[in-house]
Amino acid sequence: MATFAQRTAPQGGQRERPDLGDPSFWQLPHSARVQAFAVLRQLDEPQYFVERPQSRWRPERGFHALVRHADVVEASRNPQVFASAPGATTPEPARWVRALFGDSLVNVDAPHHTQLRRIVSRAFTPRILSRTEADIQAVAARIVDDVLTRRPDDFVTAVASRMPFEVICNLMGIPERERPSILAQVNRASGDIGVARSRLRMPGKGLRALASMQGMVADLGRERRKNPTDDLISALVSADIDGQALTGRQLGAFFSLLMVAGVETTRNAIAHGLDLLTRHPDQRALLLDDFDRYSEGAMEEIVRHSTPIIQFRRTLTQDHRMNGHDFRRGDKVVLFYASANRDETVFPAPDTFDITRTPNPHVGYGGGGPHYCLGTYLAKQEMKALFRELLTRSPNLTPGPPVLVPSNFDNRVRSMPCAYTTPQP
Ligand code: HEM
Repeated sequence: MATFAQRTAPQGGQRERPDLGDPSFWQLPHSARVQAFAVLRQLDEPQYFVERPQSRWRPERGFHALVRHADVVEASRNPQVFASAPGATTPEPARWVRALFGDSLVNVDAPHHTQLRRIVSRAFTPRILSRTEADIQAVAARIVDDVLTRRPDDFVTAVASRMPFEVICNLMGIPERERPSILAQVNRASGDIGVARSRLRMPGKGLRALASMQGMVADLGRERRKNPTDDLISALVSADIDGQALTGRQLGAFFSLLMVAGVETTRNAIAHGLDLLTRHPDQRALLLDDFDRYSEGAMEEIVRHSTPIIQFRRTLTQDHRMNGHDFRRGDKVVLFYASANRDETVFPAPDTFDITRTPNPHVGYGGGGPHYCLGTYLAKQEMKALFRELLTRSPNLTPGPPVLVPSNFDNRVRSMPCAYTTPQP
């Protein structure tokens, strides 16, 4: 098997480049990958081309890697040149997948993106989010009640994934009876499928499960269009004053996106967050000392340090020169948020976990621009509510080290064992 050393010769006296396109790179321990990105950021030409063998399934010859904060931000904010179509993930969704499921928000550009985003933003208006606040508190309290009574073995299933799943189902008004089967399908669609030795977890697997989930939600949408209630599905499928609404199929695609974009990301942020606070007892003590004062900074630092989404991709719409590097029309460019978030020119002592870090202009939710995460506020609300409950009511829960899933897409925690220390008298 190839090592992660770049196949191209190092340039003029520079150190060897890690090969970000080699699956074995993504099997390395997290700390080794963090070091490799630090090496890449120091190169004279930190934007560089990663060559990949072409195949029927992968027609492109490779991708440009953006590893510095300034490059990731600039590309994110220039969607006319760095487009999200035909796909923001690697590999991009196949044409038949897009035909079957419809285009997801993350994979389209203006004007289609602007129109879709305006409709789905109805899910995140201040009115909807203020209604959600009390619900989020209640979900967090219930989950921690269960931790106290049942003492689960695995933090990820019992706490980290349950929190965002319940919140999104409540937000969308998914009936209780439908939830177990949706959860099973989400797990099947996004679980460990595709992870085996040299294989990586890639988005877009488990499509049958996804299709069935989308079908179920599309049916709910059709039902709500006939008999609207005051829930979010009704708002999304009812026409506004401009006559805009989601079709049943678009609603299904949006719900799938929420399950991946809103559940998986938050679940991983929560699991990494508890791990970080456990490994840094001084930071945990500081947070607990004045939760209201430090929680905002702590949630930002958890997302910066763990970077739940490692990367998204863009495609060049024209030849373009950026920060001294030339791109050609049609080139693929990967924005490595995981590297930008450790850029030493922006974050002093970037590997240190510091909940008082100010400013903290991390790109964990994207580098700005039209695709910037829609769920930032919701994610922070969920994390704050859960950590407040967890750290104050269950201080003796001590997690073991997280078991990570090798992936070049998300910093996913497969499981995290829970131990319970005996409270001090
Ligand atoms: C800690 C948790 C989260 C992280 C780290 C995260 C990260 C991201 C990132 C990196 C993007 C892409 C940004 C870009 O391309 O510029 C994104 C997009 C998105 N996120 Fe989040 N996210 C989180 C939570 C959520 C939640 C809770 C929701 C919704 C309930 C959500 C909904 C979305 C949607 C709909 C998009 C696509 C926006 C678009 O393409 O216009 N995310 N998120």
